[in-house]
Amino acid sequence: MAYRHEIIEKNSVLLVVLTLITVAIGGLVEIVPLFTIESTIEKVDGMRPYSPLELAGRNIYLREGCYLCHSQQIRPLRDEVERYGHYSLAAESMYDHPFQWGSKRTGPDLARVGGKYSNEWHVEHLKDPRAVVPESVMPPYAFLAERPLKYADIADHLKALRVTGVPYSDAAVKDAVADVEAQATPDADTEALLKRYAKAKTGDFDGNPGQITEMDALVAYLQMLGTLVEFDKVQPGSLRQ
Ligand code: HEC
Repeated sequence: MAYRHEIIEKNSVLLVVLTLITVAIGGLVEIVPLFTIESTIEKVDGMRPYSPLELAGRNIYLREGCYLCHSQQIRPLRDEVERYGHYSLAAESMYDHPFQWGSKRTGPDLARVGGKYSNEWHVEHLKDPRAVVPESVMPPYAFLAERPLKYADIADHLKALRVTGVPYSDAAVKDAVADVEAQATPDADTEALLKRYAKAKTGDFDGNPGQITEMDALVAYLQMLGTLVEFDKVQPGSLRQ
């Protein structure tokens, strides 16, 4: 055996050819099965598309470049899990187009920031980060509270996402504008909204109930991040379906 191996080791062309064959077999075994399954993302209970208000907030998050300083991906490493919570699952960003995993953390990861602070905290912090966290280097975004949210075209955003595979129903598209108003107006009728978007936080987000502002949308988005999957109900290994 050792002698036969010597033949390969001394003949570089043969070595290259055999290496290529071995790598090709390994590659086929890894890649071909992927073509036979529809999705590589494990289904996870609780995941749903963004409500129109959350989506509008997400668009502001993109517009303002929050992703340049904040990631939305908790890696399965002990220090990250202890600091931020359960590591991120693929399913948690399955409706993100484009995803917001980010590549740099000047500020903390935001994948599970939802529910960590009150709405008031977020509004104060976004208006003047240093008023809440004196050593912060985050820029202020006070203007968001002054700018009325433009959502007349929000149905088109849902339609565009539908092209990429996000399962918005016809009714969800038709009622998108009404859903924005139902979610951001205190004491509104939220029955249809909550049926479509389970666990959506409703009411006034920016401390100014008279007007739906960009601040309302951004805070609604931040407050839902990472809140859809109930990890205390997920048993190890039960994610596979
Ligand atoms: C220049 C980098 C930078 C940008 C841009 C930035 N942030 Fe931050 N952010 C930080 C830093 C640093 C912190 C930590 C200090 C603090 O809490 O202010 C932070 C903290 C936060 C926190 C609190 C997180 C926690 O768990 O305590 C939230 C929420 C947040 N940022 C949201 C945003 C949003 C939304 C935007 C875009 C509108 C944004 N940030 C843009 C740097 C940035």
